[in-house]
Amino acid sequence: MYGPQGNGGGSARRPAQRSAKVTVPEIRSRKGISPIAMVTAYDFTMARLLDEGGADMLLVGDSLGMVVQGHNTTLPVTVEEICYHGRAVARGARRAHVVGDMPFMSFQLSPVHALENAGRMMKEGSFESIKLEGGAEIAEHVRRIVAAGIPVMGHLGLTPQSVHAMGGFKVQGKGDEAAERLIADARTLDEAGVYAIVLEAIPPDLAQEVTAAVSVPTIGIGAGAGCDGQVLVCYDLLGMFRELTPKFAKRFAEVGDQIVEATRAYVDEVQSRTFPAAEHSFKPNGPRRAPVAAAPAKPEFPPADEIPAHWQTH
Ligand code: KIV
Repeated sequence: MYGPQGNGGGSARRPAQRSAKVTVPEIRSRKGISPIAMVTAYDFTMARLLDEGGADMLLVGDSLGMVVQGHNTTLPVTVEEICYHGRAVARGARRAHVVGDMPFMSFQLSPVHALENAGRMMKEGSFESIKLEGGAEIAEHVRRIVAAGIPVMGHLGLTPQSVHAMGGFKVQGKGDEAAERLIADARTLDEAGVYAIVLEAIPPDLAQEVTAAVSVPTIGIGAGAGCDGQVLVCYDLLGMFRELTPKFAKRFAEVGDQIVEATRAYVDEVQSRTFPAAEHSFKPNGPRRAPVAAAPAKPEFPPADEIPAHWQTH
């Protein structure tokens, strides 16, 4: 895989499967018929695995600011970064549709600014559609982007780019007024031409109402089972992100524990010189006619009496 004679490892390796790409018209047509499974992805290897697992859509979410870059919010993420990860994910996605998240301040300024950056993401990020957060206030932005032939996914409820305005990552749409505003926003986005809407962290009965009120699929995250599809952050789904686990994030595996265990085993084998074994090494050259002379002893570096105190661990 990486060099000569690599076999790619992985006892569960399967032959590459090529099925038709999931398209925007297909996603739309699945509303109320066949639930859509979306998951975030940020790199080639993960995209390939999630695609093989049958994910219909891969979202290069700005959540990468938190789970890949280690920030507390998604706000620092840039268009360049989303595009960089998008290109990697697109190479891994054989069947899944690839969506790019428009990061904070890449679309809010004006409909034209939004169109410019959406176009850039399609050209430079290899995306097949884009997603942006917000309701009625971005309806015109959505119209302009859709008119240019770029499919747009909406995102309502807990919109992480507004974390400071919301006072934290909190459930949204609670109470009649907030619920009605959210339904109105969903209808406005539907009319503006989105092909699907993410509903994040809202009460399940409200998500069901929104799902009934719009003509396009809703994709829930922390919005109950009544949506037309679901989305999870891949590191949550796999049990790899250990900093926080939102209530709605079911961990379908504990890959994080496996990574720690595997790393411990590797470190032990390196230290005990049991790795690499003969099967991980290339064929020996055989005895040399003129054996290589041993390297001359080097002077101590740094001289023992000059070792800085903070290097000395015992
Ligand atoms: O950025 C992201 O990962 C998202 C999903 C959680 C919907 O927007």
